[in-house]
Amino acid sequence: MKVLITGGAGFLGKRLAKRLLARGTLKNAQGQEERIDELVLFDVVPAEGFTDPRVKVVTGDIADPNALNAIVDTRTTSIFHLAAIVSSQAEADFDLGMRINVDALRLLFETCRRLGHCPRVVFTSSVAVFGGKLPEVVQNDTALNPKSSYGVQKAIGELLLSDFSRKGFIDGRGLRLPTISVRPGKPNKAASSFASGIIREPLHAEESVCPVTRDTRLWLLSPRQAIECLMFAHDLGSETFAETRMVNLPGVSVTVGEMVETLGKVAGKAAVDKVRWESDATIQRIVGSWPGRWDMTRAHSLGFRGDADFESIVRAFIADDMDGKVRV
Ligand SMILES: NC(=O)c1ccc[n+]([C@@H]2O[C@H](COP(=O)([O-])OP(=O)(O)OC[C@H]3O[C@@H](n4cnc5c(N)ncnc54)[C@H](O)[C@@H]3O)[C@@H](O)[C@H]2O)c1
Repeated sequence: MKVLITGGAGFLGKRLAKRLLARGTLKNAQGQEERIDELVLFDVVPAEGFTDPRVKVVTGDIADPNALNAIVDTRTTSIFHLAAIVSSQAEADFDLGMRINVDALRLLFETCRRLGHCPRVVFTSSVAVFGGKLPEVVQNDTALNPKSSYGVQKAIGELLLSDFSRKGFIDGRGLRLPTISVRPGKPNKAASSFASGIIREPLHAEESVCPVTRDTRLWLLSPRQAIECLMFAHDLGSETFAETRMVNLPGVSVTVGEMVETLGKVAGKAAVDKVRWESDATIQRIVGSWPGRWDMTRAHSLGFRGDADFESIVRAFIADDMDGKVRV
């Protein structure tokens, strides 16, 4: 089995790659575990740190048809499409967001259509497809009403995934990811970057700026569970997606104030004192338009699992990304 991860050098892409290599298999269209012989990690920058002979690191621009022709062939049975321009950058650079999040996605699907082998495609959508006046608990079928260019681009991606699947060109499954927290490394250009920064930096005894108010409510999922959900979605039979291709993934609903309280519980006052509150109207507007809670009935009935609570998310970060040691 040949597996492709677009955005394979990104945060989730690299983690997924490591997890797939450790597992060694994915389910095929007949529902049987099949060995992964080749794992292509495609990105504009090289995915570093992979020495496994099954891995092929390829660099290129996903909006370039020649690059796509070089990485997708009829042996590519599974595609995790993670390459994207994330929220703040898509808002700041309208053309780039449209080119990568919409045009390149369609080009990828068209490449699969032309090859005619109907691969499984797992697509990562976002909370950002919802917005405006929302019900207190967002449902799987709540109307899409994005209030950012990123949200619009993800919503277009969802519709294209559904229609290319209905036509039998791909076997798509779309996951609306909560905000992923706590992510390791440096802050990025996502509007939600602070949702990791306000925990990660203080745990490393570094200062972090929180650009939103304490009562801002977020819907969160740990990287560990996000990766499990990506693989789980891949392995479900196509009949699961007959009614709708999209699943709102399980999350934990928490205010930013509660997140910082949990930080204090896990790492003490010294960690809490590292959070500086400095409002940013643009980030508050974007993040404030996202839902803080959604219904998990569909996700749970299919067998997707999230995190127990925010404290487990913080403890998973310390275990997975800090060798179990708090540094503050
Ligand atoms: N992390 C989150 O909180 C979150 C939440 C909801 C949805 N998502 C979605 O999950 C996916 C992965 O997110 P992530 O956090 O790993 O983001 P990331 O920014 O770490 O990874 C995206 C990758 O796409 C690559 N990319 C950008 N333009 C490209 C191009 N022209 N050609 C090839 N590759 C290109 C980037 O270099 C990057 O490595 C994205 O689709 C994102 O929109 C993430």
